[in-house]
Order: sequence, then C-alpha cells, then structure tokens
Amino acid sequence: MKVMRFHEFGSSEVLRYEDVDRPVPGTGQVLVRVAATSFNPVDDHIRAGVLAEMIPITLPYVPGIDLAGTVAELGADVIGLEVGDRVVAMLPLDSAGGAAEYVLAPAESLAPAPRTTELVDAAALPLTGLAAWQTAFELAELKPGQTVLVNGAGGAVGSLVVQLAVDAGAHVTAVDASQHADRLRGYGADRVVGPLASTAGPAAVGGPFQVVVNHVRVSPEELAQLTNYVADGGVAVSTAGPIPEDPARGVRSASLWVRSDGAQLTELVAKVDAGKLRLHVAAHRPVAELAAVHEEAGTGRLPGKTVVLAP
Ligand SMILES: NC(=O)c1ccc[n+]([C@@H]2O[C@H](COP(=O)([O-])OP(=O)(O)OC[C@H]3O[C@@H](n4cnc5c(N)ncnc54)[C@H](OP(=O)(O)O)[C@@H]3O)[C@@H](O)[C@H]2O)c1
Repeated sequence: MKVMRFHEFGSSEVLRYEDVDRPVPGTGQVLVRVAATSFNPVDDHIRAGVLAEMIPITLPYVPGIDLAGTVAELGADVIGLEVGDRVVAMLPLDSAGGAAEYVLAPAESLAPAPRTTELVDAAALPLTGLAAWQTAFELAELKPGQTVLVNGAGGAVGSLVVQLAVDAGAHVTAVDASQHADRLRGYGADRVVGPLASTAGPAAVGGPFQVVVNHVRVSPEELAQLTNYVADGGVAVSTAGPIPEDPARGVRSASLWVRSDGAQLTELVAKVDAGKLRLHVAAHRPVAELAAVHEEAGTGRLPGKTVVLAP
C-alpha cells in the first residue's frame, strides 16, 4: 500500500511517498481503509523533531493523527464493529498515522463517523473536536450562562470551542481576523472582535470574562496580557502556551494536552449530526501533496483546516 512518511526529522522535504506492506490488526486493533486524514499544526512540529522528547515516535513515521475511513478488518477481541462501518478516530501520536491507504487504530479510539457530512470531511473533527471538548468541559469546566472569550476563534479548534460553548448556554466573545467574523456570528457568538490590541484591555471587548480560552501561538508577554481578561475567580485555558495564573484574584490557568477518547468523540459526532457542530473545511488535498501542505502551513499560507485525501 501507499504511505507518506519520513525517515528523519527535518523540513517538509523529508516526506516521501512510498510502498509498504499492509499492516495486520493485532488484538484490540482495527484495520481501517483510510478515506482522509487532516493537517494539524502538531504534525509540523512532530516532523520537525521539536516534540521528539514529548512524543517518542519510531522512524520511519507516517503522519496524520486524524482518521476518517471504513473498517477493513477486525483484530481479535474487537466487539461492536463490523467490516464496512464508517469510523473516525484520533490516532495515537506515537504510532503510524492516517497519511496512508490503510492504518491500524485501537478499537477504543474509534467512533461512528457522522451521517450528515461527507466521510472525508469527518477527518476534520477528531483531534480538534477532542481538543475543544477537553478545553471547554474538562479544563475550563464551562457552565451555562458563563461569559467566555475565545482568542483565535476562527481557527480549527477555536471554531469548535465557540460552538460547544454556545450550545452549552455560554455567552461567547470571539476574537479573530475579520475574514472569520460572519462565520463566527453564524455559530452564535454574541460578540465578534478583531485581534486584541495590547493596549485596549478587557473593558474594550466587554470583559473581563469568567473563562478565557486561547488558541493563538503568541509570545509569553502576550500570554501574560490574557490574564487581565479573566474575571476574579475565573479560569484561563490555552492550547498554545501557558497563560500565567493570578492567585491574588483567584484566577487559575490550565494548558491542554489533547488525548484520544472514543466516547467523547462519539458525543462530538452526535452534535455534528444534530446540527449543533459545523465543520469548516477550507481545502482538500491529495496525500501525494502532503509535503506542500506542511510547507504551506509552516509559512502561514495554508487557508485553514485542510483535509488530506487518501490514495
Ligand atoms: N496542546 C494540545 O493538545 C493542542 C491541541 C490542538 C491544537 N493545539 C494548538 O492550538 C493552536 C490552534 O490550533 P488550530 O488547529 O485551531 O490552528 P489554526 O486553525 O491555525 O487556528 C489559529 C487561529 O488563530 C488566528 N489568529 C492568528 N493570530 C491571531 C491573533 N493575533 N489574534 C486572534 N486570532 C489570531 C488564526 O487566524 P488566521 O487564520 O486568519 O491567521 C486562526 O484562525 C495551535 O498552536 C495548535 O498547535 C494544541
């Protein structure tokens, strides 16, 4: 089968399109015929080698943490699935990914794919959906009626946090460039504002907020500014660098390290099928172009969430 993989860390040029043997599912594993994976910023960091200590991968490595596809073969002791089922998963970060014709997935990572989207577009959901869920409900412990500021709201994770927060009954202020504004209003954000000017302060955007969520990779100084947007007793959660706490005001802080969870993914899929969670796919690219996708992401030219189609 065809895979896209790299044998050494480096720039996007280390990615190679190669033929390998089709894997055989072991106990508790499912062989999935890949329809698509999607690009996430962490793919770029893993390939560059900057996460080698945190995510100990084995080379050669097939990238692609997201998976949408159909069950091709079941390993021993796998129950509740049948060949031909449409599934999605966030694959383990340290094993072969979805930039391939086939991939092995742990059975417990799988959820039924949404019925209301194209199967390939469902590859936009797993990692970002789980990141959004764990940010909103596990780390921020979001409650109905709370005020929430989402920085980087138009991005892949931010768009899902906005929708989960609105669905949970929170009042959302979404921060991102103006090109995302109409879409963010469509998700139900109460207020949509442009990037936070360092001098404007929380009152200028209707703050402070009980929950502040950050998805923008900024300097430590800019992260420290975000603490000022959190109300006394509130919480700041970031997926892109730690926001300092302020114990004197009872402001706590948490950083996300997303994990695979088939049960949470099943709940996210149900929200997609109920029309409460919309997936925004900016582009579809064949896996043979994955090196170009990585290169464009690294230079800020990727148009948004990019689904990568299997061979
Ligand atoms: N630790 C974890 O477990 C985990 C999990 C998932 C994601 N992450 C991280 O979370 C971050 C977001 O991921 P993503 O997939 O959502 O990325 P993304 O799609 O690129 O989203 C980032 C968003 O931030 C916007 N933005 C850039 N500069 C901004 C500014 N100064 N003010 C307001 N908005 C700004 C971007 O707008 P434009 O598109 O207009 O530039 C984009 O909409 C990445 O750093 C990723 O690595 C971490």
